[in-house]
Amino acid sequence: MRVDIVSIFPEYFAPLDLSLIGKARASGTLRLAVHDLRTWTHDVHRTVDDTPYGGGPGMVMRPEPWGEALDALAPHELSPDGHTLPRLLVPSPAGVPFTQAMAHELAAESHLLFACGRYEGIDQRVLDHAAGRMRVTEVSLGDYVLFGGEVAVLVILEAVTRLLPGVLGNAGSLEEESHAHGLLEAPMYTKPATWRGHEVPEVLRSGDHGRIARWRRDEALLRTATRRPDMIAALPPESLDKRDRAA
Ligand code: ADE
Repeated sequence: MRVDIVSIFPEYFAPLDLSLIGKARASGTLRLAVHDLRTWTHDVHRTVDDTPYGGGPGMVMRPEPWGEALDALAPHELSPDGHTLPRLLVPSPAGVPFTQAMAHELAAESHLLFACGRYEGIDQRVLDHAAGRMRVTEVSLGDYVLFGGEVAVLVILEAVTRLLPGVLGNAGSLEEESHAHGLLEAPMYTKPATWRGHEVPEVLRSGDHGRIARWRRDEALLRTATRRPDMIAALPPESLDKRDRAA
């Protein structure tokens, strides 16, 4: 997968050299480039923002550098190697919620382009113009406001990269984890069996795979019902078996 990130703070993305994302880059699974938006400014101050039309506090990112950045990274003409246009993602508290389902959707793309806004965001015309030639999604991490899109891109990219083929050693962990089946994952334990007076539940040490699976499912349902009743309400009824209903 190819990923381009445009930001006025390229230094934010130094952690993308670390750990499994770093490995995915080294192996070529993830071809990532970070670009400084100010590359596409032409004045001595390398200006990227201005006051909002209509008034109000804060500053808005001017459209010109963004327009040039998107022209450079997503050219109007099809590239000679026939590559299609990227999917443009713009983190914003006003976006659609980022979910595990969206992470799967993005992991299937060949080219993602992230535009990191700062201040009060990017002039809306940049997104409207880009939508004439590529798919544009404003995406929100949650109902809170960050300084800018950079941290959101780190989060989204981590969720997406771990779904790329070959990145996780054990593909089974994708099957079991929280959100894989619309439920939160059951609690996990490792050695020692007793620690500071707390025991690992007996069932997990029983070796009885049927009982373990049932216990994990019950714990997942209980946790989800307590912490995320919205997720229980969204479960398709056919995904619950008779014993789930009893639980
Ligand atoms: N930029 C500022 N706040 C954000 C949020 N909650 N999600 C994504 N991008 C943001």
